[in-house]
This record gives sequence, C-alpha cells and structure tokens, in this order.
Amino acid sequence: MRGIILAGGSGSRLHPITMATSKQLLPVYDKPMIFYPIQTLVDAGVEEILLVTGGNSAGEFLRLIGNGEEFGLKHMNYTYQKTEGGIADALALARHFVGRDKVVVVLGDNFVQGSIRKAVQDFEAQPEGAKIFLKEVADPREFGVAVLEGDRVTRIIEKPKDPPTNLAVIGIYMYDNSVFDICDTLEPSARGELEITDVNNAYIQRGTMTYEILDGWWADCGSFEALLRSNLLVARERGVRV
Ligand code: TTP
Repeated sequence: MRGIILAGGSGSRLHPITMATSKQLLPVYDKPMIFYPIQTLVDAGVEEILLVTGGNSAGEFLRLIGNGEEFGLKHMNYTYQKTEGGIADALALARHFVGRDKVVVVLGDNFVQGSIRKAVQDFEAQPEGAKIFLKEVADPREFGVAVLEGDRVTRIIEKPKDPPTNLAVIGIYMYDNSVFDICDTLEPSARGELEITDVNNAYIQRGTMTYEILDGWWADCGSFEALLRSNLLVARERGVRV
C-alpha cells in the first residue's frame, strides 16, 4: 500500500495567513499541520509516502520533513503540482509512484484522532475498488455528504444545501490503481477543479465502494474556525487547559 499526502492548493480561505506560506505548514498546537497526516500513515503501517506540494513554499516541506527520519521513515518522496487544479488533479501526479499497488490518499489539512490501521488492512484484503471514511457532523453542508441504502453508499453529494444525511466524507480515501484511469476521464467542475467526489462517485457507480464510520474525532483545518478547533482538540488531548 502506498501513501499520498496532498499539500498543494491555494488555501484561499485562510488568506492573508496563507499568502506567504502553505496552509499545511501552519501550526496545529505544537507541530506543523503536515506532521499529523504523515503520522497517521506511518501508524497505519504505510511507509512509502509521496507528498504532493505546490505554490511558493514547496521547498519548505523538504527543509521541514527531509527524508522523514523524525517519523522513522527511510525516505520521503516529493512531487510538485504546478497549478491548483483540484484534489483529483494532485492525485493524478502520483500515478508513477503507485504503479500496480493500492493507495491511501490523505488531505494534508485533515487529521484524525484514532488509528486507520484496521481499515487499511481491510482494504488491502478488498479485491478491488475503493474505501472511504464517514463521520457524523453537526452541519454537513460544507462537505461531501454520503447517501446510504442499507450497507451501501449510493451517492456522494458535494456541499448540499439540504443534506440527506449528516455523514460527511472525510479527507482520507483508499483506492485500487484504477483510480488513475478514473482521473483521466474527469472534467473540471464549475469551480474549475478535478473533484475527488467525482472519483468517489465513479467507484460507487461501479459498485466497488465500501465505507467505515470513523471512530474518534476528525479535524479539517481549511477555515479559520476549523483551524482554531483543531488546535484546541490537540491541545486538550495533551492535557493543556484551553
Ligand atoms: P481544499 O481545502 O479543498 O483547497 P485549498 O487548500 O486550496 O483551500 P481553499 O479552498 O481555502 O482555497 O484542499 C484540501 C487539501 O487538498 C489541502 O491539503 C490542499 C490539497 N489540494 C491540493 O493538493 N491540490 C489542489 O489543487 C487543491 C485544490 C487542494
């Protein structure tokens, strides 16, 4: 299983903070944000990791992470996304790295409290397709929202005004290597990006998508509110009174 962390993007919701640096280099309590998704992959037993960077501070990731020694890794792999073409556009850059293997993709501004090791092992045993994590949220309108029928996901609706469930699709996705053929077929959305929700819906249409309900909290750091909440979650977990 290969791991990909997506740390490109423009981080425009966090302007002006992200005008001069990358969102994923910002602090979440006592560590740079990017350390959390790397640790999640390492804890899940994924050691071959490709970091997709972009923008003006791509070089800073290399300076910060180097060969991943801090995480017990032998090496870290890097690639560069020239334009902010979307999450699926960033993922498509990993084709050469994944080869015939399977892949777990983590958004560089998302992290989870618990371990995903069991789900990664389950997916390794899944003959084909994809697996996503769902989490109940208070206001799902900001997220991709899953529609379920029995034990199957039948559709994911991106940022629905009137959400059919409160199950958000979190930013960790597992795919077989047909994901790159799916990426080749995508058309840019209304916001001009190749959307990961379109990738997930393609697997749902093939009938090969499975899901897990995530235990523990999930943090997304895309907005000021979410970034503040993430800092508080981590600080409190370390016993800091804030
Ligand atoms: P988003 O939060 O969807 O996009 P963004 O980081 O550009 O922020 P904003 O919407 O505020 O402008 O991205 C989620 C993750 O995916 C984040 O870690 C950045 C990464 N990403 C890429 O690597 N390439 C891209 O083209 C995009 C859009 C996101």
